[in-house]
Amino acid sequence: MTAERARSFAAGVGVYAATRPGYPDDAVRWAVPEGAHTVLDLAAGTGKLTASLVGLVPHVLAVEPTDEMRAELQRTLPGVPATAGTAEATGLPDVSVDAVTVGQAWHWFDQAAASAELARVLRPGGQLTVLWNIRDESEPWVAEFSRIVHRGDDLADHFDSPVLSDDFGPLEAAEFRWVQRIPTAALRPLAASRSFLLTMPPDEREARLAEIDELVATHPDLAGDAADQPYVVRAYRAFRR
Ligand SMILES: C[S@@+](CC[C@H](N)C(=O)[O-])C[C@H]1O[C@@H](n2cnc3c(N)ncnc32)[C@H](O)[C@@H]1O
Repeated sequence: MTAERARSFAAGVGVYAATRPGYPDDAVRWAVPEGAHTVLDLAAGTGKLTASLVGLVPHVLAVEPTDEMRAELQRTLPGVPATAGTAEATGLPDVSVDAVTVGQAWHWFDQAAASAELARVLRPGGQLTVLWNIRDESEPWVAEFSRIVHRGDDLADHFDSPVLSDDFGPLEAAEFRWVQRIPTAALRPLAASRSFLLTMPPDEREARLAEIDELVATHPDLAGDAADQPYVVRAYRAFRR
């Protein structure tokens, strides 16, 4: 089931690219060590985090296993070498990158295998950063949106600190708060881009999306054409010994 969910993004590439949030600059800077030359964006998806890395570092590489996601990244970021690979087997040479970033994906990985693989490709002193964009549910309409989308979801994204091998030094944690202005019309496709909905029978998915339509039609904070959606980026980093 986890593997099916991890692959499900292929069905939602267009909505994913259009509705999922990017990353705030302060979080991206925290993810890149001073003087880094080559950074791997792992599980790069459609390139939301990759796009922020371009311009900060001279060489950005992307590894992404899902062909449809990678094709979208190659379309929007043609200058970034993007290859098929996984966290457990990136296909990159030993000791070849200064940093690795993982946006919104560590929870899909086999942690022990990924940690060993990233210890292999990182230079000594290189940085691994794992980030999640989390909707800030202290905002009432955001809490209601999440309740509708994730009701009954045993595999809802979890944001526990990653467990890394002894090849890495101690974990540091940080949080970055930011707000995305989102058209209220995008809330339905945003819900539809979640892997839980992508893998549901179509009639159940439609019923959930009808609940989202109802939320958008009735919640006073969603009365305008757009709303402020607050996010917290939770980030963890550790350095290769
Ligand atoms: C929620 S998306 C995040 C994409 C992008 N990093 C972002 O922040 O928008 C999760 C991505 O993880 C990828 N993925 C799932 N399992 C993976 C694995 N074992 N190794 C590498 N990538 C994986 C999926 O194909 C998908 O593109």
